[in-house]
Amino acid sequence: MKGRRLLIIDDDPEVRYTLRAALARDGLQIDEAETGAAGLERLDGESYDFVLLDHRLPDIEGLDLVPDIRRRQPNVLVVMMTAYGTRKTAVEAIRRGAYDFFTKPIKLDELRVVMARALERRQLVRESGKLRTRRASEAAFGGLIGKSAAMHGVFDTLTKVVEADTTVLILGESGTGKELVAEAVHSKSRRRDGPFVKLNCVAIPETLLESELFGHEKGAFTGAHDRKVGKFELANGGTILLDEIGDMSLDTQAKILRVLQEREFERVGGTAPVNVDVRIVAATNRDLVQDVREGRFREDLYFRLNVVTVRLPPLRERPVDIPLLAEHFMQEFAEHQGKSLERISPGALDAMCEFQWPGNVRQLRHAIERAVIWSEGDELGADDLPTEVLSGSIVAASALRTGTDDSLPDTMERIERRILIDTLRGAGGVQATAARRLGISERSMWHKVKKHGIDIDRLKG
Ligand SMILES: Nc1ncnc2c1ncn2[C@@H]1O[C@H](COP(=O)(O)OP(=O)(O)OP(=O)(O)O)[C@@H](O)[C@H]1O
Ligand SMILES: [Mg+2]
Repeated sequence: MKGRRLLIIDDDPEVRYTLRAALARDGLQIDEAETGAAGLERLDGESYDFVLLDHRLPDIEGLDLVPDIRRRQPNVLVVMMTAYGTRKTAVEAIRRGAYDFFTKPIKLDELRVVMARALERRQLVRESGKLRTRRASEAAFGGLIGKSAAMHGVFDTLTKVVEADTTVLILGESGTGKELVAEAVHSKSRRRDGPFVKLNCVAIPETLLESELFGHEKGAFTGAHDRKVGKFELANGGTILLDEIGDMSLDTQAKILRVLQEREFERVGGTAPVNVDVRIVAATNRDLVQDVREGRFREDLYFRLNVVTVRLPPLRERPVDIPLLAEHFMQEFAEHQGKSLERISPGALDAMCEFQWPGNVRQLRHAIERAVIWSEGDELGADDLPTEVLSGSIVAASALRTGTDDSLPDTMERIERRILIDTLRGAGGVQATAARRLGISERSMWHKVKKHGIDIDRLKG
């Protein structure tokens, strides 16, 4: 933190002295102001990295000063200090553009951690701004965007794979971009002028899946009035995406295996083999190795599919991609909704970078879509974000410095419970809605509500 500039705005000389004495040792250059007005004057003359702001000042409430500070120096990181630490004030401070919130007496080690992290994150935000112009060439592959090391690894694999015409297996949590990868594999390959056919294996009842894949002859079963061409035939000369392949029955798996081995199959109710030239791309969010071990997935099919594997990392493991994706989606939706948004506020980016995104990129995209609807003016602010994103970030920030001896699992439980309650409240107690916002299934929401003993009725209305 050497050479960074800090402004302390507090009327209590003792607080100023203690903070200065401690933080000067980190190499920070420190100025002081006793009142809000004096603080603003300082900010007019000098540029700062941090402002430590007291909640109660002689001339103004600290909260009310935050927007003025941010207007003068949009990139400055404002940390509020108060003796009256309530959650409500914390939320309000962050809504108005503060970066974080501390209760007096300030725990200096925690303050240092928060400041160091804030600097890192600001760096990240700046880099993403620079990247905007270079993005087209370096941080994208097909429709995929990303500049993290992990995504560059994915792009490298894809570059090799597109020309090879092999089978590709795409793995990753829900919402990580598997379908987009499949599209990129097709559109960059020599098959690009051929058809790209998608089949979602779970969306189709097992009884119909076979005829959907392979087609059927007229009269093959009751209701088969006409001959039907299956997806494999439709994809001839192109690519087929077998989505959610981990959810396919063992029966269907055997039939797919045959197509992979022999490039031929029969229509349901037919006898003549049909030959096809199709590249197979398969995707799943399941752990196929585990499924093989437990007998739910055929090992031979797994090896056939697993010629090249593309693993998409969850969004929470590549936070540097978040600003990039957020800006991309903001531009997309701003254009769509006819809004003249120019940028995302640093506070909003901070909250997004701290959030865990259980629903990955899809959830981020939805969050931005909603935020664009709420936004006014040319900046998308933290208070435009869905509450679950915002409260998640405050929860994470406060958990960092509780200073208790709770174990990690206990802390995680507490945070999970908090997020669930906040989201459920925001959703008026409707579990299905809350589940969707958090990117988890209704079933898993139900389990979690039960596990945490959350009283849904109290969250309604
Ligand atoms: N790297 C990325 N760059 C741009 N957009 C992305 C990226 N990853 C995902 N998206 C977008 O996020 C949304 C979800 O992606 P996609 O449908 O490909 O996810 P998925 O992995 O197939 O999820 P599921 O397992 O739930 O089917 C889409 O709108 C997609 O365009
Ligand atoms: Mg998908």
